Amino acid sequence: MSETSEIARLREFLTELIPNEDQFQRLYRNFCEQIRKGLGANTNKEASTKCYLTYVQDFPTGNETGKFLALDLGGSNFRVLLISLRSNHDAEQTSKIYQLTEKELLGKGSELFDYIAKCLHEFVCENKLEAENLPLGFTFSFPCVQIGLSKATLVRWTKGFNCADTVGEDVGTMLKVAIARRQGLKIDMVAILNDTTGTLMSCAYKNPECNIGLIVGTGCNACYTERVENCERLDAKYKNKPKIIINVEWGAFGEKGGVDHLHTEYDKIIDKNSLNPGAQIYEKMVAGMYLGELVRLIMLRAVNENLVFAQCKLRKHITDILTKKPNCIETKVLSEIANDKGDDWPLVKEYLKKIFNLNDPDIDDCMKFKYVCDVVAKRAGNMLGVTLSALANKVGEKFTIIGVDGTVYRCHPNFDGYMRETLDQFIEKGIRYDIMLSEDGSGRGAALVAAVVQRENA
Ligand code: GLC
Repeated sequence: MSETSEIARLREFLTELIPNEDQFQRLYRNFCEQIRKGLGANTNKEASTKCYLTYVQDFPTGNETGKFLALDLGGSNFRVLLISLRSNHDAEQTSKIYQLTEKELLGKGSELFDYIAKCLHEFVCENKLEAENLPLGFTFSFPCVQIGLSKATLVRWTKGFNCADTVGEDVGTMLKVAIARRQGLKIDMVAILNDTTGTLMSCAYKNPECNIGLIVGTGCNACYTERVENCERLDAKYKNKPKIIINVEWGAFGEKGGVDHLHTEYDKIIDKNSLNPGAQIYEKMVAGMYLGELVRLIMLRAVNENLVFAQCKLRKHITDILTKKPNCIETKVLSEIANDKGDDWPLVKEYLKKIFNLNDPDIDDCMKFKYVCDVVAKRAGNMLGVTLSALANKVGEKFTIIGVDGTVYRCHPNFDGYMRETLDQFIEKGIRYDIMLSEDGSGRGAALVAAVVQRENA
């Protein structure tokens, strides 16, 4: 960006969203402290990152075989999959997406599970699987206390879900009951897992050095493999295997103050206007559900302070839209304009037209809008690099692969680079890492967990 004085003013205005090295260091320290507390038996209560035990302790070899069903619930839609694992790291899958409406997201839990069972039934019939009793892996991407592999008590809803009568219930039983209500549906639910676990497993299927699973989509979370001797809350009977996957649930980081030094007025408004104020503080700074909204709030203030669109004829109209239309800037805008280049800014212009009905915007305003989007995405990517490096250092292997999935990571052309920037800074000397895109962690990962469970129980 060329440094006109106006742009320098905008940059100055955005400083609080551009953390410096000290602030990242503090983030690193605070996060490590929360992980330590999360793992400890006596300190878990006070930790924001609960470090849930997943009971996944066996990892794929790449030679798993068989046919599995998977359910994937955790974002704005829900999927059913049929996965055939063949030996030699080869898998084939068919899947169908079912839309979720507000009725399911905000209704009663039993109705949500009835709807899931109905879709599952349809899928089984469409694929002529009625006669088979297939094992099913259930990817349920919300914070749960697991009691073994196939029981999971929901701790809280996140990401815009808020179904009644579900928190505190075992979602495995809820699913089984809903399946039982549908006559003629034979399914054996063998495992419940988080999407981060699925991502780690689907990457470990291709590469056993994968020790971290990350999702940067609607929500954001990570899991990693921990040595059992470091898991004070794990019952001794699980300690004959060397490792266990820990679901960090790092979206909740910040609830005990770990990110206060980075929490801006915009972040506070996002939190206050959300379905779950005070909860998932870190998630609200880095995940897809919130990044577009952050841009909207920043733009609103920037316009009010005459930093953007100051000379624009539609200034009042733009302010109105920014004020009255929450979510008018979708997170995909950040990804799509990230590669747009001056002098003409065709993509930025396209979005300014779509959002504000603005024809032929000033070139400086295009540049500034894109800059705000980049600052928000970069802050998210950089923060994630810091907490990822803490996990990689904790894993302590000379080489660790981070398996990743989620729309923000997949679609934003610079997000990988933003994460690497701080990963490179914070990862300990002697530890190397790489980032690997997961091939459908929530689907294939669920099948893999089901497969390793069957192998161990055989
Ligand atoms: C939210 C959920 C978490 C999930 C993440 C990514 O943070 O609480 O369980 O892994 O979103 O989907």
